[in-house]
Amino acid sequence: MKILITGNMGYIGPCVVERLRSSYPDATLVGLDMGYFANCLTNAEILPECRVDLQHFIDIRHIPEELLNGIDAVVHLAGISNDPMGNTFEEVTFDINYRASIELAKKAKQKGVRSFVFASSCSMYGSADDRPRDENSPLNPLTAYAKSKVYTERDLQNLADERFKVTSLRFSTACGMSERLRLDLVLNDFVAGAVTAGKITILSDGTPWRPLININDMARAIDWAISRDASNGGPFVAVNVGSDVWNYQVKDLAQAVKEVIPGVEVSINKDAQPDKRSYRVNFGLFRTIAPDYQPQVDLITTIRDLKEGLESMKFADENFRNSRFMRLKVLTHLRTKELLSEKLEWTNRGGIQ
Ligand SMILES: NC(=O)c1ccc[n+]([C@@H]2O[C@H](COP(=O)([O-])OP(=O)(O)OC[C@H]3O[C@@H](n4cnc5c(N)ncnc54)[C@H](O)[C@@H]3O)[C@@H](O)[C@H]2O)c1
Repeated sequence: MKILITGNMGYIGPCVVERLRSSYPDATLVGLDMGYFANCLTNAEILPECRVDLQHFIDIRHIPEELLNGIDAVVHLAGISNDPMGNTFEEVTFDINYRASIELAKKAKQKGVRSFVFASSCSMYGSADDRPRDENSPLNPLTAYAKSKVYTERDLQNLADERFKVTSLRFSTACGMSERLRLDLVLNDFVAGAVTAGKITILSDGTPWRPLININDMARAIDWAISRDASNGGPFVAVNVGSDVWNYQVKDLAQAVKEVIPGVEVSINKDAQPDKRSYRVNFGLFRTIAPDYQPQVDLITTIRDLKEGLESMKFADENFRNSRFMRLKVLTHLRTKELLSEKLEWTNRGGIQ
């Protein structure tokens, strides 16, 4: 078994590699990333990439076909991974997240890859009424990021067949401690605020619904998707990944952080414009087709892990919303220094891949 994991040098990647290393001890794990956030490490004991057998520093827009020789499964995480980056680098987001993803899938199919796992997102439901969205609900992508996921899923569906099984995991919003942390995610932001300043600043009025999932549970779902039987869901399946009890309103998340870190002040922006991205999600299909891979980590454990992780880093940056743990800040910094081009390609590579 040879598994290619694209985007393995991001937030979720190290956790996925660790999980696959233990579930498939004899597998060859190959990482592929262009390393935008390579130095956004926490206090990892080792460089997370030491756990893969081979690491490629390659842009997914320029993957040589031969790289897919002998690969059995692709876990495709690489991409511009949130709305703020997608809004700032809109066309590049479509290039990387949509066009390059489909090209990768085509090459993978041609090379005989049997299982293609795509990291999709529940944000494609956009703004919805209070009824939980299931996989047949209308999609309402509000941003370039969400649209890129919709287009990719649509075209992947056309590529899937008996020999090329595609699983599109519509993930809830991630949270949890990672060796390459992101603090631009709602729960991680709240814990960072609580740890550094004793204060959580909610940018909305606190009412939007947001389904959450711990990154270890995302890795668990990816593990399932790699090996799922095509009779379980068909050659193509798009499935919401998370759990019904993890549909939270943002203000409930702040409250949970307060339970773990007492004395924290919570400020809600009562004058905020209604946050359009509000949706609840139905995870019934995932329960039915992946009963043994359901989310396990609870909210309080996730908050404790984040708190302990930040404390062990001696993280004290109250101004963390401007730090290197914010993906957009890193990209704009690299652009300002002209280390990345307008197309978000490394300027110092001289075209060599
Ligand atoms: N974090 C979440 O809440 C969440 C939720 C749903 C879906 N997802 C999806 O899961 C995937 C991973 O998310 P993450 O939080 O780890 O994001 P991340 O930004 O931390 O990691 C993405 C990785 O992709 C790499 N990458 C980006 N463009 C590339 C390119 N052209 N070539 C090669 N590598 C490239 C980056 O260097 C980075 O290491 C993304 O596709 C994201 O859209 C994430």
